[in-house]
Amino acid sequence: MPAPAAPPPPPTPALNPAALRADFPILDQSVHGQPLIYFDNAATTQKPRAVLDALRRYYEHDNANVHRGIHELSNRATAAYEAARARAARFINARHADEIIFTRGTTESINLVAHAWGAARVRAGDLILLTEMEHHSNIVPWQLLAERSGARLAFLPVMGDLGRLDLDRLDQFLTPQVKLLAVTHISNSLGTINPVADLCARARRLGVTTLVDAAQSAGHRPLDVQAIGCDFLAFSGHKMGGPTGIGVLYGRQELLAAMPPFQGGGEMILNVDFDRSTWKPAPHRFEAGTPNMAGAVGLHAAMDYLDHLGRDQIARHDQELGAYAYAKLAQFKHGIRLFGPPIGRAGLVSFLLLGVHAHDLVTVADRRGVALRGGHHCNQPLMRKLGVESTARASFYFYNTTAEIDRFVEVLREIQRFFAAA
Ligand code: ALA
Repeated sequence: MPAPAAPPPPPTPALNPAALRADFPILDQSVHGQPLIYFDNAATTQKPRAVLDALRRYYEHDNANVHRGIHELSNRATAAYEAARARAARFINARHADEIIFTRGTTESINLVAHAWGAARVRAGDLILLTEMEHHSNIVPWQLLAERSGARLAFLPVMGDLGRLDLDRLDQFLTPQVKLLAVTHISNSLGTINPVADLCARARRLGVTTLVDAAQSAGHRPLDVQAIGCDFLAFSGHKMGGPTGIGVLYGRQELLAAMPPFQGGGEMILNVDFDRSTWKPAPHRFEAGTPNMAGAVGLHAAMDYLDHLGRDQIARHDQELGAYAYAKLAQFKHGIRLFGPPIGRAGLVSFLLLGVHAHDLVTVADRRGVALRGGHHCNQPLMRKLGVESTARASFYFYNTTAEIDRFVEVLREIQRFFAAA
C-alpha cells in the first residue's frame, strides 16, 4: 500500500485540453446519460478532425493504387504515401525514409522482425532477451521464433508492484548467447517509463541487436531513434490520433538490407519467374500487396497534429495527469492496490479496489460515463507475476483534464461504498 500523498497542483496550462476537445467530435457525447470521460487511450486514442479530413480528402480526390500506375491519381497517391514515409522518418529522427516500413501496427512490426531478421540471425541455442512487463505482442512472436529456430527466451524481472525493471541485473542477463533485446518503452499496464537509451547502449556494447516497442510512447513524447540507439522500433498509428490498421517499423538500414522478405506478393518483387523471384530493396521488400495508402495519409496528418501541439507539451501534460491521478488514488488509504512507479510514471494508472473485480468496476464506471479498461491488458505473464488476474486501468491523453480525473475518483469512491455495503 503506497503512503498517502497530497495531490500535486493541477497541470499548468501549457496545453489547453478544454479547447483541444473541439478538434475531437467523438468526445462531445453522453454515454448512459452522462458526459463521456474517455480514459481508454492506451487501448486506442480518439482522432482529431485533421485526421478525419485527411482521410476524406484522400478518398474524395487522390485514391488510386501506388507505385504501379502511370496516371495522375496513382502518381498523387504514390506521392502522398511516400510523403507519409518521409514524415514518419522525421517524426522519429530516422536517418533515411527507407528505414521506415509501413505495417498494420506494432504487432505486425514485431512479427516482421521475428520472421525476417529472426530467419537470418537466430539459431538453436541463441537467446532472445525480453522483460517481464512485455505486451503479448512482444512475447508471442518470439515464442514462435523460438519454436522455429530452437532459440530460447529469457526475461529481465520486474520488481513487484512498483513496476520497475531490475536494471542492476541486466548485465548478468546479457550473456554471449543473447542475440536480441526487445523491450517496451512504456508499459501499457504499469505506466513505467523504461530508460531505453541506456538499455540499448548496454546491449549494443555487447553486439546485441535491440528492438523498442514504442506503442505507448510514440504519440506521447518526442522520440529519436538515433538518440535511443535502437536497431528496430515499432509503433501503431491508432494509439497516437491516427487511423487503425497502419503502423511503422523502423529498422537500421544495414539490418534491413540483410533481411529476407516477411511476406511475398505484389509490390515487393523486382522480377518473378515460375520457379524463383528477386526482391526489391527495403522498405518495399517488406510491403507485399497493396499497402494501406489512406492509413499512411491519416498517420501523416496525425504526426503533423501532434507536432503542432508539441510533443514535449504532450509528454508534460501526460505525466502531470498520471501523477495527479496516482496521488488521488493513493489518498484512498484502505482498499486500493496501485501498480507501477509512484513517480516518473506515464499518463496512466493501474489499480484494484480490494474486493471488487476489475470487470465489475469497469462496468459500473461505464454506467457513469467513464470508459476504463479492466483485464490483463495483454500482459498475462506480468499479471501472474503480480499475483492478480487483472487490473483496472485509466489511461490519459492530451484532451483529458484534471476535472475528469476528479469525477473518475468520485465514481471510484461510489463503487467502493457500494461494494462495501453489498
Ligand atoms: N495494448 C492495448 C492496451 O493496452 C490494446 O489496451
